[in-house]
Amino acid sequence: MGRFFDIVKQIVPFWSTNNNKKRSESEQSKIKTIEYESQRVSFKFLIAAILMFTFQVFLASGASIEFIIPDLPAPIPFNSGRAFHINLSVFWPLLGIIGGVYYIIPEEVGYDTNIKIANIQFWLTIVTLLLIYGSLSLGFTTGREYLEALLPFKILIALSLIIFFINILLTLLKRKITEWHPTMIGLVVGVFFSIIMYIPSMLTYKNIAMDEFFKFWTVHIWVESTLELIIASVIASILLMMTGVERKTVERWYYVEVFLVILTGFLGVGHHYFWIGAPHWWLYIGMIFGALQIVPVFFLVYTAFKSVKRQNMKTTNDLTFKYLWATVLWNLVGAGILGFIMTWPSINQYTHGTEMVSLHGHLALFGTYGFLTLTLFYFILPQWQRTKNLSMKKGNIAFWLLNSGLALMGISLFVAGVIQSYLLRYVGIEFTKVRELLVPYMIGRTLGGLIFAGGAIIIGWDLISNLLFKKSIP
Ligand code: HEM
Ligand code: HEM
Repeated sequence: MGRFFDIVKQIVPFWSTNNNKKRSESEQSKIKTIEYESQRVSFKFLIAAILMFTFQVFLASGASIEFIIPDLPAPIPFNSGRAFHINLSVFWPLLGIIGGVYYIIPEEVGYDTNIKIANIQFWLTIVTLLLIYGSLSLGFTTGREYLEALLPFKILIALSLIIFFINILLTLLKRKITEWHPTMIGLVVGVFFSIIMYIPSMLTYKNIAMDEFFKFWTVHIWVESTLELIIASVIASILLMMTGVERKTVERWYYVEVFLVILTGFLGVGHHYFWIGAPHWWLYIGMIFGALQIVPVFFLVYTAFKSVKRQNMKTTNDLTFKYLWATVLWNLVGAGILGFIMTWPSINQYTHGTEMVSLHGHLALFGTYGFLTLTLFYFILPQWQRTKNLSMKKGNIAFWLLNSGLALMGISLFVAGVIQSYLLRYVGIEFTKVRELLVPYMIGRTLGGLIFAGGAIIIGWDLISNLLFKKSIP
């Protein structure tokens, strides 16, 4: 219990007994520095991710107001805006994670990644994303949520992922260390299967059930399995770097975790097949393996607590730790617990297509992958001359705004989701009538969204002002 409070003290600022000035001086001396030249590649991926994040919340705040006042004049139609918002919600955390991987690989294997290949991948991805967003704003939507893009752009995204995989593989093959760290195995398997899962869903199929079936292979197997593997590796590596804890403490359960993430993620995706006309036995597979998906999430929380317990509270940068805790805890609540609730067919028959799904989508996607990107941002960017002066104070204010905004959005969507599921599916009231009744909770969601947006804008502005206006100190 004492340990639990030690950890809470790390997260809650006014609970900390440390002298702030003293702490920030010692923090400075412990800030990690770049050891491999190729780690610099991660700066641009993280910067692009944060700029896209800031842009996304601008759009989202507008969309949430449109939910309350539907006739409000908007620069783009709601469906295009939604496609934009949802695509961005996948792509910016993806860029952040790729940036994190470019940072951790050289540390883990003692060898630089190929900088040229990484730069080609970066610019290919950015140009492709600009083409995708340009075409979406011109109305070229295809109805494929999350990774909506015209086929040529999908091919370019696949190419970017293949280049990424080749770069990782080449680095591992040239590695100086003799043993394979489990974290690297999780990473390679995660990236490899992310590509494999993307390919069938690039195409569209005449049979609507087949089309939906493959649609879920991409984003949903990604977020519930292949990306979970990658982030488990990234979290394990940054825990090792930040805490100086023994490797075996972090890696003890790693193989079990990898096995469980693959097994439960690939089969648990069956909970997305409940409504698409897939054979009925998917109900049982989705239910059983979906419910088991909470086990590896608990492993991740356990590993993080265990590492902090063993490392005498030595950190490289307190803010990074806060964001890391937020990642782990929102992953537990948003992905683990809410996912667990909705994976039961007897519950899903009421919650499907309601605000409960939106609640889970926000808490799991931003809570896990968004907060992880911010963890990497505050861990890695202060190591670069140009962004050395990123304000930890602003990062701290943003941390509380993001968390409280997300919590308020979450509570509002939860209440709205429960009422909507009950009135729509149990009582049988017509959809639009129920929608009208939800307006007060949508106002709550918008307020939460605005608080959240405040946090995002503080981070975005701090980054932009460091890049554009502040002199870099040699
Ligand atoms: C960080 C990991 C996760 C992320 C980012 C995530 C994200 C999402 C998103 C965005 C949706 C909305 C899908 C749509 O609109 O088509 C969704 C739906 C769903 N997810 Fe997750 N999820 C995660 C983990 C999980 C886990 C671990 C479980 C099970 C324990 C789960 C169970 C579900 C269920 C049951 C649905 C609703 C399906 C429906 O009724 O349409 N998710 N998830
Ligand atoms: C200012 C903050 C935000 C606001 C106000 C907001 C608002 C909205 C609105 C109005 C929708 C469409 C309707 C709905 O599903 O209820 C939506 C959908 C969605 N948003 Fe956000 N959003 C915000 C931030 C984010 C972030 C940071 C992410 C992830 C990185 C995200 C991920 C999603 C996802 C996955 C969906 C689709 C959910 C589904 O239909 O199943 N949002 N959001």
